Formats: sequence, structure tokens, C-alpha cells
Amino acid sequence: MANRKIIPARAISGPVILPGDKSISHRYAMLAALAKGASRLQHFSAAADCQSTLDCLKRVGVKIDRTDSAVRITGAGLHGLQRSRRDLDAGNSGTTMRMLTGILAGQEFDSTLTGDASLRRRPMRRVIDPLTQMGAEIHSGHNGVAPLKIHGRKLAGIDYTLPVPSAQVKSAILMAGLFAEGDTEVTELVRTRDHTELALEEFGIKVGRFERTLRVTGGAELRPRDLTVPGDLSSGVFFLAAALILPESSLVLHDVGLNPTRTAVLDLLAGWGVPISLLSVRESGGELIGDVAIRHSPVEGGEIAGDEVAQLIDELPMLAALGPFTEKGIEIRDAKELRVKESDRIAVVAENLRRLGAEVEERPDGLRVGGRSAGKLHGAEIETHGDHRIAMAFAVAALGAEGPSKILDAGCADVSFPGFFEVLEKIVER
Ligand code: S3P
Repeated sequence: MANRKIIPARAISGPVILPGDKSISHRYAMLAALAKGASRLQHFSAAADCQSTLDCLKRVGVKIDRTDSAVRITGAGLHGLQRSRRDLDAGNSGTTMRMLTGILAGQEFDSTLTGDASLRRRPMRRVIDPLTQMGAEIHSGHNGVAPLKIHGRKLAGIDYTLPVPSAQVKSAILMAGLFAEGDTEVTELVRTRDHTELALEEFGIKVGRFERTLRVTGGAELRPRDLTVPGDLSSGVFFLAAALILPESSLVLHDVGLNPTRTAVLDLLAGWGVPISLLSVRESGGELIGDVAIRHSPVEGGEIAGDEVAQLIDELPMLAALGPFTEKGIEIRDAKELRVKESDRIAVVAENLRRLGAEVEERPDGLRVGGRSAGKLHGAEIETHGDHRIAMAFAVAALGAEGPSKILDAGCADVSFPGFFEVLEKIVER
């Protein structure tokens, strides 16, 4: 896919409208597919990942009509899915594969779920194990990787504590719980994004919450809904970081999702001395939404470790690439999950930071990136390894380097943010 040249810039400014949130779009699509009747989802994510979810749902018989930014999904009820004659292709999307595995495990038919080369390397035992405890029969490749052959079975509720903090795994179990006999309970020791819980409630499913435990009861029908997807803060972070890298910047991100399980990055930056304001905060479909305003300012930098890692997981590549522009540098620990994302994000971030001339030390569970005193970055060729967040994070870092850079295979940004480079180019000033 196409490479992109990045010319350093002086500032980024203006209003930004972000694509619909990827996590929420997946959930709304899947739950709308299980409801009886038509749901209309506005500002649905344009991400290739969410298109993978829609394509898989079509294959199991769900009627889907897509216009520019809205999707109309007509579900045939909890037991309305049908067997697909062909394999279901989740593309690059871990969320599609893990959450759909939960839904397909409880059907009266068999399915095969596969994905691209990156997804076929990612760990799936984390969903296979709990679903097997519920009575599912799932065959995987060696070491628990896709393709997954899912033999639909009658499921029974379980009481499961997540060994890895993962919203995808939590969601897969809750989705399977819709088809299971009795109650399904999931306990998370570290809180992760709660969009599935909120979306289930929007679609009419009662979700019990007691401290860190969630409960759904199988067999209830979902009601169709008209919902608007908030803008994706995880995509917005690339622009926030650009504003912190480029001296004369000032930016407002409009209608962004501000769910407290997603805003750890705003708290972190505020704690590092960055002036961020939230404006017009309101509720929409159980989710908080509002505008985020930021001005360029020095960023202190510091440590990211422990429980906060799970809530910053998608933002870590950008935060690491912000490291060379901070006063103290950035140290990330307890983040070995990054090694099993779309790429090995610890190794790939370290490799590309080095290419740009940053001071970086790679560790098994994270990395330490030197701050401003380690010197300025210079232009370089960036290897994205087909990972969308690497392409975008390093395009932003390259704006603050001396001399042009080239992002190889930059088209992978489409996985979460089609049009990213065009939007960026429109609002930077040279
Ligand atoms: C997601 C959860 C996270 C995140 C991914 C989206 C979701 O993955 O990294 O981009 O939508 O639930 P894990 O659940 O594996 O941490």
C-alpha cells in the first residue's frame, strides 16, 4: 500500500470531527444484529475493522444497509442468525473476532472465523477458555490462534474472573451469556472500557453490576435502537499529541466520546501540565460525549504503569512517540499486552523511535524514551508493520522532526481512521 511523505510543520489548529468510535460501533452493530427489527446507527465508524464486523454479520444473514455515515441494521431477533456457507473474515480486527466468537458459540450452527496474517497470530485462548467452560466447542490452530472453528452449542452461564484485563474478552463472555441458560457473571480485577455493558442496557438487556462483577441473564430479547456513535477519542489522541509537539497549536475535537473508562489519556496529560478543557459535555445513548480543547504547552512526561495501562492501551504508541518532546521523557511498564496487538507494539515503537534518532530502551514489558534533553529527532523511514496506530503515531512524531520522513505502507491507517492523512494535512501549518 501507498507510502506517505511527512514534511515537518509549525502548528496544527482548527476544529476536528473524528470518525465514530470503533469500539462502540462494533458493539452497536452486533447488538442491533441480535435485536428484532431495524436499528439506525448514526456516525458509525468508517474504520475497515468495523466494516469487517458488518461483513461478518451479513454473512450470518443480517440485513445491513450502509449510507455515508449511517448504518441501518435489521435483526431477526436473538435466534435469527443463520449459518454462513463461507468462512467469516474478521480482517485485522481483534474485536470482531473475539466478540463474534462469543455470539457464534451459542448458535445452533457451526462457523469458521478467520482473519488477516496479523490477526491469525494473535492469542485467542483468552476467549476460547471461558467459552469452553460455558459448553462451547471451539477448535483453533496450534497455540490457540485463528482460524477458529466454532461448533454452536447450548451454553450455560458461568462465573468467570478475567485473568488478563481485556474488554474484548469480557464482552465475548457477556455476549455468549445472552444465549446461555441462567446467569453469566464476569469479574474484572482491573477496570476496562464498559461500552458493552452500556450498549446492552441501551438495547434493553439488564446488566447487574456489583463492584467489579457484571451479570447478564440469558434468553432476553433485545429491542432495536436508533443511536449516534460518539467520535473516537483514541483517534483524537493523534491530533492532541500533534498540538503538543507543534509550538503554535490550538485545537478543538468535536463530539468526542468521553466515557470515563476511555479518558485516562486526558487525565494523564492534564497531570503532566497540559491545559485541556472539556466543553458541552452531555449524554447520548448512555455514553458521555463532548468537545475537547487543547493548546500547545510543555509536557512534563513521566511514568505509565500498573492498572492505568489497561485504560491507555490503544494510546500507548502515541504517548511513547511523544516521549522525545517531553521534559522528562516517558517510561512505560506493565504493558506486555502491547506485544500481542496488531503488531508487537513495544518492539515496533522502539525500532521507529530509534530510526528518528530518539533515545530509547526496550524492556520486556515496556520501554523508556528519553525526553527533550536527548536531542531533536531527524526525518526517517518508518516501518509500520501494517499497524494503523504505528502509522498515525509516527506521522505525528515526524511532524516535529528535522527534515522529511516517509511512512511505509501508510494505508494501514484505514483500519481505524480512513482519511487520517488528509485530515492531518488540512489542519497543519508550515
Ligand atoms: C477493544 C479493547 C482493547 C483495545 C482494542 C479495542 C475493544 O483490546 O486494545 O483496540 O473494543 O473492546 P483488549 O480487550 O484486548 O485489551
